Amino acid sequence: MSALAINGGNPVRDTKKNPWPAWPVWGKEEETSLLEVLNSGVWSYNGPKEKEFNKMFAEFTGVQHVVSAANGTVTLQLALEALNIGYGDEVIIPGLTWQATAASVIDINAIPVLVDVCEDTWCIDPSEVEKAITPRTKAIIPVHLYGSFADMDAILEIAKKHNLFILEDCAHKHGGEWNGKKAGSIGDIGSFSFQLSKHLTAGEGGALTTNDPVLAEKLDALRNCGRRPEGDEYANIDKGAGSYSDEGNFFQSGNYRITEFQAAILVEGLKRLPQQNQIRDENGIYLNSLLSELPGVYPMRRDARETKEAYFNFSFRYKKDGFKGLTVDKFRKALESEIGITVDSSYEPLNHCSLYVPYTKPSRYKLNDRYWKAINPARFKLPVCEKIHKEESVCIHQKILLGNKADMDMLAEAISKIYLHANEIQ
Ligand SMILES: Cc1ncc(COP(=O)(O)O)c(C=O)c1O
Repeated sequence: MSALAINGGNPVRDTKKNPWPAWPVWGKEEETSLLEVLNSGVWSYNGPKEKEFNKMFAEFTGVQHVVSAANGTVTLQLALEALNIGYGDEVIIPGLTWQATAASVIDINAIPVLVDVCEDTWCIDPSEVEKAITPRTKAIIPVHLYGSFADMDAILEIAKKHNLFILEDCAHKHGGEWNGKKAGSIGDIGSFSFQLSKHLTAGEGGALTTNDPVLAEKLDALRNCGRRPEGDEYANIDKGAGSYSDEGNFFQSGNYRITEFQAAILVEGLKRLPQQNQIRDENGIYLNSLLSELPGVYPMRRDARETKEAYFNFSFRYKKDGFKGLTVDKFRKALESEIGITVDSSYEPLNHCSLYVPYTKPSRYKLNDRYWKAINPARFKLPVCEKIHKEESVCIHQKILLGNKADMDMLAEAISKIYLHANEIQ
């Protein structure tokens, strides 16, 4: 009989008998808290759970202010609006990220400028950022992708030199730390997603972090139809020039609010997150030590400045030359059969991404011919992103890292098994 599960053999892991850790994680605490919200009748926004969560998340990320919102796409959009970025402005983003990073930029009529990433972290390449700067550049959005950290020292230096804002897209990095500073506390604003796959989740949801009281006040208004923030939270702020409060009471915005039900789940999830992050970090270190012994498998580079890791996906680089010529898509399928869990490629590079297609909406984005040309994703060359996506990326959901050492051994065993039998795969 064939050895490989993809050819009918026994898998390394029988997930019916031995399932991977489940995601999402919840318990009695969430049930109690949700019932409390239900019975209170306070279901919408600015309720006690939202306030509690904002306070907890501010402490957790080491910032002064947190504003929760509906999801991690609108948080990016609101952050750009709060920074007064709009038509004619350019925002530099990595070519390898979820489409929301780019979509938020065109949704405020600015121009997403796509740049290549580093091949060993998959995060924005600072030298490419430097090359892409023009007099119209207003901001950089580094994305801390999957389990890696963008090189924030280099990004901060570039931003300072060119007077640019930094909006950290932390959708994958709740609790990650760079040089002792939490993701979301390093740039001007941090943006988080609490979508179901994320390691802090309420099904959907998002949050914004900042140390700037004026930005916080604007963000609070922007997520709430332009209303002045409630209460006296911002009352004692020494408001400098450009303060929102100095500009009048209201400005145009929409409803991007979170509900009390989401906030109730987030409060409980956040209590578990530090320990979960620690387990994932320890398992990630151990698994990477095993992977670095295997032919054709290259762990992601962990920068010495990453003082705490936070994984959205566990990823590694695969090189078919070290794997008897087996292509990465065949490798991923074979691995999936051995371990009984989805094994993905990276996101599609944004210059050719099926979900980032501004040209399908001329009624919205064709402001004029110059803008139309500027937002054409295909005008950007992203060779490293393309190589990662097509030839090298292997990504598995972070829940596998919530297992134990034996689970990590099993993953390494599955990869070794595929290597040994690679020539049996059609
Ligand atoms: C890097 C990145 N940014 C932003 C988002 C958007 O978050 P949401 O799905 O909550 O809108 C995601 C979601 O996957 C993401 O991965």
